[in-house]
Order: sequence, then C-alpha cells, then structure tokens
Amino acid sequence: MTEASTPAIAGTSGGEPFPLVDFFSADILASPHDFLQKSRTSGGIVEIRTSPSQRIQYLVTRYDLVKHVLLNPQLFSSNYQDILTSGGRADPEVEEIRAQGFEEVSSVLTADDADHRRLRTLISDAFSPARLRAMSEALEQVVHDRIDGFIEQGRCDFMHDFADWLPSAALASMMGLDGKRNGEIQAWALAITRRFGGMGELSQRVADERAILDAKRFMEELVEDRRRRPGDDLVSDLLRARLDGDRLSELEIYATIFILLVGATETTFNTLNFAMLHLVEYPELRDRLRQDPPLVSAFVDEVLRYYTPVAGVWRIVREDLELGGVSLSKGTLLMVRFDAANRDPAQFEQPEDFDIFRKNNSRHLSFSLGPHTCIGFRLAKQELTIAIPALIDRLYDLKVDRERSDLSLVPAAHARGLTSLHLTFTPGSRLK
Ligand code: HEM
Repeated sequence: MTEASTPAIAGTSGGEPFPLVDFFSADILASPHDFLQKSRTSGGIVEIRTSPSQRIQYLVTRYDLVKHVLLNPQLFSSNYQDILTSGGRADPEVEEIRAQGFEEVSSVLTADDADHRRLRTLISDAFSPARLRAMSEALEQVVHDRIDGFIEQGRCDFMHDFADWLPSAALASMMGLDGKRNGEIQAWALAITRRFGGMGELSQRVADERAILDAKRFMEELVEDRRRRPGDDLVSDLLRARLDGDRLSELEIYATIFILLVGATETTFNTLNFAMLHLVEYPELRDRLRQDPPLVSAFVDEVLRYYTPVAGVWRIVREDLELGGVSLSKGTLLMVRFDAANRDPAQFEQPEDFDIFRKNNSRHLSFSLGPHTCIGFRLAKQELTIAIPALIDRLYDLKVDRERSDLSLVPAAHARGLTSLHLTFTPGSRLK
C-alpha cells in the first residue's frame, strides 16, 4: 500500500531551509549519519515528512537541544503510549488480535510527572545494586555455558548462539524464571520491538501481534503464579510494592513486565552484536582489552556512543514553545536522536573516530538523561562487561563469516541492530 504523505515543501532547521525528506525510508535509515550531520549543522532541529505510520514531525539532533528536551519533561511529554501500542497504525486484523489481550496502559516509560515518579519508585528496588551483585555469578555461568555450546565447532551464529541468550537470561533471572522460556522471551521481545517501530508488511505485523498475545497470556499466568507463591523476584516485588499505601494495579504490573521484556532484551542484544563486530574488525583493540581488562568498561561506553542501539525516542510538545529557533505548537511529535547527539562535534572531539580513550565517552546519551534515564543501565553494563572479556579470552583469530552474515542495519525508527553476524575463530582455553 502506498502511504499518503504531506507535500514535499522545504522543512525548517533553526530557520534554515532544509529538504523535507522521509527520514524513515529504508535508504536513509540504512545510513542516517550524513543526513543527521547536515541537520545538526543547520540548526539541530529538522522537520521531516510524515506518513500515517510515522507521525514524527521533527527530529532533534544537536547534543545541547537533545539534552534540553530530556531534562525538561514539563515541556516535553513522554506520553506516547499509543505509538507503542499500535506502531502508529490502524490495521483491523491486528487490532482484533490486540483486543483479545489485556489493555495496554502507560508504563514507566510513557508516564509523566507524578505518575512517572510513582511507577519509577515502585519498581526501583528491583534494580538495586544488591540485586545486581546477586545476579553476576549466574550471568557469568550463562556466558560460559553458551560459549561451551559452540566453541569446539570453530564457528557460530553469534546472535542466535550467544547474544540472544544473555539479556533474556538476565531478565529471566530477575523474574525468577528457570530459563526454559528464554527462547520465547526472545521471540516476544522481537515482536514488541518491531511493533514499536511501526514497520514491516501486514502479514508480519499480524504474526507479531499473535506473538504479543502469547506474551500477554504468559504474563497473566506469571502474575497469578507469583500471587499464589511469592518469591524473591521482580514480579513478586511488583505485587508487594507499596508507596504511601498505594499499590500497582494489575494493568500497571503487566505494563511494567511488558516494557521490561523489550527494554531489557533487544537493547543489550544489539549492543553485544555491535561490540563483537567491532572487536572482530579491530584485532589490536581485542589484544589491548585482553591485556588490560579494566579498559572493557570504556570500550562498552564507546560502543554505546558510536553505535547507539536505541537511536531515538519520542516526545510530545506540551505547550507552544521555541526550540533551536523553531516554533513548535502544543501536541507536536518529536523524536530526539541519540545517534545524532552522540556524534555531535560540539560535544565529542572527532566523533566519527572510535576511541576508547576519549576523555568524555561516558557522556553519551545512549541511556537517555533526566527522569526517564534507563533504569536498567547498570544491569546492561554488567552483562556487557561480563560477556566481552569471556568472549575475547576464549575465541581467537576471530573473523566474520561474510558469506553467511548480513551486516546491514535492521530498519527501525528508534532502534539500531545488525541483521546477522556469523563468526569463525580458533578455540582458546578457558582462563578462569
Ligand atoms: C544497552 C542496553 C540498553 C540501552 C541502550 C537502553 C536505553 C534506554 C533508553 C534510551 C531509555 C530512555 C527512554 C526515554 O528517555 O524515553 C531507556 C529506558 C528504560 N530502560 Fe533501558 N536500555 C538498555 C537496557 C535496559 C535494561 C537491561 C533494562 C531492564 C532490565 C532496561 C529497562 C528500561 C526501563 C524500564 C526504561 C524506562 C525508564 C523510565 O522511563 O523511567 N533497559 N532505556
């Protein structure tokens, strides 16, 4: 189906004329940095062509403007739950399947002000440093078990043999699951991510909605089970959570699990894949990290800055205002682009270089900023800093198997990931 779009007139960026393009076309998304760089230098906020499935009117691309938007939630709302629920589309077939599951209410991600503070406070215990410490041994075990599973073959499908398993194991561990459902968790997370992006053919969107319905049934069973047999896990915490006599409603508990399914998995999965590809392509860096493991933390931050796996998030203008010299009216839908801000030369010297020694590489915006800063960022970093040393300690002469790999980016409005990554290597011995 051809989508109706607004007429191609000149857009604005800080008052400069700028071509009104369909930023979410496959061509631009495959390689967005030229466009983002131009938009940064001509003001840092650019109007783009909208369509029924991509209603975003402006991209915010300069570091200082992105930061301003994120730090001023009283001016820029996160209440874009309708986009997450429908991907901005209205397909009767998809909606019929959606209607069979529980209603999707705002989660912590899409709540504003006091509602957001309440939800965030109620779930924050689940991300306490003590809980993360308790998980680290189990994660280390998963990492080595996965490597044991393929190491003798001298080759692997990195995404499916390894990267998929670590975030889903971390989430399963948080939820007190035994790991048997990790494969399903991965499939559900992928379906939810695709739906957020609002892309793909109708048949794919129908299949994704069916998968999401299965995920919803699973969540209902899980909550019911924990209600009967509470334990030391996130779902039991959510059922117990109290704030001034207030509790999370049933739908809010589902919304929290729902957002964690995708927030905790696809993000770390994509980061791991980019990290591994980079290490395969730069053997000297691999050697350096092997010799000096504390550098892995700076490497992880530079991967997050350079590849920016969550490329952007939505915000809605709450009152008529001006941003970067552009007048925006109440209700305007923006996307702040972390990928553009992370390569802003006003913030990062030589931003196109991958440099683990840059002074400020932890100042990237890949985990956002302000009240919605990623609540799972410590867990994500923990997973990555456990996985990377183990992989480079145990796999030598790493190469990309070019015939089997597809290193192109998966087209998505907000997320960035590789399509497939197959590797060959020489098995090394386990150092630990
Ligand atoms: C490399 C991995 C990750 C990246 C790049 C990432 C990125 C982000 C970003 C950019 C946001 C902010 C959205 C906004 O400002 O509107 C966010 C929020 C969030 N993330 Fe992450 N995330 C990662 C891993 C995780 C993990 C492991 C978890 C949980 C186990 C998690 C749970 C959440 C939740 C619940 C929110 C909503 C917080 C709020 O709105 O208050 N994320 N994440």
